[in-house]
Amino acid sequence: MNLQAFIAGKVDEIRKTAGGERTISALSGGVDSSACTVLAARALGSNLKSIFIDDGLMREKEPESVRKIFKGLGVKVDIVDARDEFFAALEGQVDPEVKRKAFRHTFYSVFGRAVRESGARFLVQGTIKADIIETKGGVKTQHNILEQIGIDPDKGYGFKLIEPLKDLFKDEVRKVAKAVGLPKDIYARMPFPGPGLATRVVGEVTPERVALVRKATVIVEEEIARFKPFQAFAVLLNDQGTGIVKGKRSFGNIVVIRSVESKNAMKAQPTAVPWTALTRMAKRITTEIPQVTRVVYELTPKPPATIEYI
Ligand code: XMP
Repeated sequence: MNLQAFIAGKVDEIRKTAGGERTISALSGGVDSSACTVLAARALGSNLKSIFIDDGLMREKEPESVRKIFKGLGVKVDIVDARDEFFAALEGQVDPEVKRKAFRHTFYSVFGRAVRESGARFLVQGTIKADIIETKGGVKTQHNILEQIGIDPDKGYGFKLIEPLKDLFKDEVRKVAKAVGLPKDIYARMPFPGPGLATRVVGEVTPERVALVRKATVIVEEEIARFKPFQAFAVLLNDQGTGIVKGKRSFGNIVVIRSVESKNAMKAQPTAVPWTALTRMAKRITTEIPQVTRVVYELTPKPPATIEYI
């Protein structure tokens, strides 16, 4: 891929599609949506408005850090607090695909409102090739797929989509992100799924269960970052195991540590994390989160497992 030609071509394409129209960019702070936002900002200038939805499923301090990074790049980001709406949509749901579809519907409903309120017609989003292949192939419903499976965003939610990266895989998107001047914090960032920590809570997604997995995620990211895995995170299972907390029996939660190596997320291998790092994470998770009595390490490649748990 000729990077500069690709970038110039996409900027031109966005300008031809949405030039002169107010447009919203769906920014999550991940590499895909960040790269899209910069391309769209180049094409549309002040006609582009970037919106970050706080769905309550982000990692620790994510909304603040996204706002800060983009402020440094001269891109103003509006944060929409939709936490209650997402938790209400997920309440009582345990089936993975039902949870994914509930997330997707809420995601586009919130953006649909934002688009209408600001008089826009277009939503720019960072869909990449793997998202489309996996959704169409029946692996799982990725949160950002509509048109490719026959859902018309204009009829359902009131906007047209612009997806400049839909023909690229993650490793190629990283090159684009670097070439458009995004900082390493963004272009080298671990992938984080659109439905956020909801993909890492097996069973019902409640604010309390998300808070637990968020704390465990901080520990896993802190301890594993130096091994530079493709992706590493914590998962909360919908099961329990007996443990001892302050000398007494406790039937507590089970947390999985998942770390994988991959090129583009289509296939993955478990990371050979050193034993000392694994036992240190287990100790920190059970000490700092007393509701967790067990920590396990996941050994399954993709396939047959997927990277996320739902
Ligand atoms: P799986 O779990 O399908 O994940 O092996 C492959 C890659 O995609 C990410 N992922 C998602 N990304 N929306 C996204 O934007 C989604 O709905 C979604 N589901 C999974 C996952 O983190 C991994 O990098």
